[in-house]
Parts: sequence; structure tokens; C-alpha cells
Amino acid sequence: MIPKLIVHGGAWNFPKETEQAHRNGVKYAVETIYPLLLDGMSALDAAEKAVNILEEDPTYDAGKGAFLNEIGEIELDAMIMDGRDLSFGAVAAIQNFLHPVSIARKVMEKTEHCLLVGKGAQSFAQAEGFSILASEELLTERELTFFQKIQNDPSFRTYHPFDMNKPSDTVGAVVMDHHGNLAAATSTGGTARKKQGRVGDSPIVGAGAYADNQLGAVSTTGWGESIMKVLLAKALCDLFSKYSPIKAAIKSIDILEKRVSGLGGVIGINAAGNYAFAHNTPKMAFAYANGPEKVIAKIKSA
Ligand code: GLY
Ligand code: GLY
Repeated sequence: MIPKLIVHGGAWNFPKETEQAHRNGVKYAVETIYPLLLDGMSALDAAEKAVNILEEDPTYDAGKGAFLNEIGEIELDAMIMDGRDLSFGAVAAIQNFLHPVSIARKVMEKTEHCLLVGKGAQSFAQAEGFSILASEELLTERELTFFQKIQNDPSFRTYHPFDMNKPSDTVGAVVMDHHGNLAAATSTGGTARKKQGRVGDSPIVGAGAYADNQLGAVSTTGWGESIMKVLLAKALCDLFSKYSPIKAAIKSIDILEKRVSGLGGVIGINAAGNYAFAHNTPKMAFAYANGPEKVIAKIKSA
């Protein structure tokens, strides 16, 4: 099989001057990881490593650059899923780690559980050898300034940044490796000024990501409270069996919009190895490998 890799850098309304950084970041992730996939890297490794690159990039709302919650702290959510046997691992509301998706993978591989949250997730990560960072190491000037602006604004709602000129976005990756195995991973800082302890869609299986070799694999981005209600990633995986991949993606976003007035975007790969993407936010940043030589990187407007 020719491997496939698609990544996203969120579905929001980023201002024009930040588009290049959004495009470059997703393109770089594909350009770095795709050659390794061609050399035989597994879908799971590729999904994790592609998301790691995006977690390190301060452009996005994941790892470094994440939004601040209502008390000015960063709490991160992430998950990863293996399409071979539907195993997955996730962490939620975890603090002071750069790569929550890698901790999620350890949850999947080293525990009998699927989802660890807060303090327990932190102790587990430490025991697994992940380095704890000082809070400032994940903080960007951009998010601090934004937090100070919205902190005491009584009219602010957590879904507003999806429409505002506000650059910050969840990240994700979906992969098919040369064995035809699928994997999906998603990582986020959630929404701006979220309540302490708020968990979004990203670490919820079927909402933030899903991978099943028999159906396809998907990573989502957008307003988590709406995405969770329709289990957007699983909804799209189910639609893959009825429609062409792009049509299925559009239909999944229709469900999100019509059923719960949701806002978001999806990327995916169906079981036959074809790409899917759609969104109803003003913009979505994503990139995919179109054969060994060509990376398509887009900021798509709705
Ligand atoms: N940071 C929320 C999202 O883009 O999904
Ligand atoms: N989609 C990310 C979040 O709402 O947390």
C-alpha cells in the first residue's frame, strides 16, 4: 500500500497575517513524517510523531501555545487510537507536559485503562519518564495577552474564538501505513477561558478521533461541546461506508451544524486509503501527502 498522511492545525478563523504560519506548520509535519512512513514507520508512530511536531509549534492550541483557562492555567487533552484493534489511550486536563499525545499512547500501551485525567495522568506521565515543564514553557505572549483581554469580559463565550480573528487551534493527524493499518491522534489546549477541569472532545473516543481499519480514521477540531454531542469522528467513520470520502466529510459537518449548531472541521482517511476533509468554521489549516513527492498544504475557507 502507498502510505497516507493528513494533518490539521485547527478549524477556526485565524487572521490573514497568521495564515502562513498555520500553513507552514502543517506542511512541515507532513514533510517530516511522510518520508519515514514511506520507509516503513507504523501508522501509530507516524500519527504520534506528526502531532508531536504540531504540539511543539507555538502557532497552535496544543502543547506550547495552548489557550489559558479561566484561572490563567494551561490544561491539555489528547488521544491516540489504533485502527487494528480499536485500542486507544487518552489524557485530559493534564498540566506541564509538552507532548500529551505521547502520554496518551503510554496510557494505551502500558495500562489497562483508556483515559487518565488531571493529577493521576500527571503522576503516570512522570513515572513514565516524561519531563515536567515549568508553566511558562508552554505559555506564549499571544495567549497571555488574549487571556488578559477576555478575562473579565462578561460577554465572552468559549465558542467565540471560532469566529473571531483569533489564531489558535487544535492539532491532529490521521495515517494509513504501508500495511494498510490506520491510526488517528488529536491534541489540544481546549477552548479559551474554559472552566478549570473542563474536558473537550479531543480525548473522547469517537468525538476527537477514531480509527478502525474496517471503516476509516478521523481527527476532528472545533468547538468541543458541539463535537462531543454528535461523536463527530465516529459519525464520519460510519458515513465512509455509504459515501465518497469528501461527501461523507461534508455530511458529518452537516450533522454537526444542523443537529447542534456546532462549529468544527474533520480530516480523515477511509478504509480504501482516500482522504476526506470538511469544515464549517471560517477557515481550516491542513496538509496531506499526495504521493511521495508532493505535499498539499491548505488554509481552506468555508
Ligand atoms: N482549540 C479548539 C479547536 O480548535 O478545536
Ligand atoms: N476541539 C477542542 C476543544 O474544544 O477542546
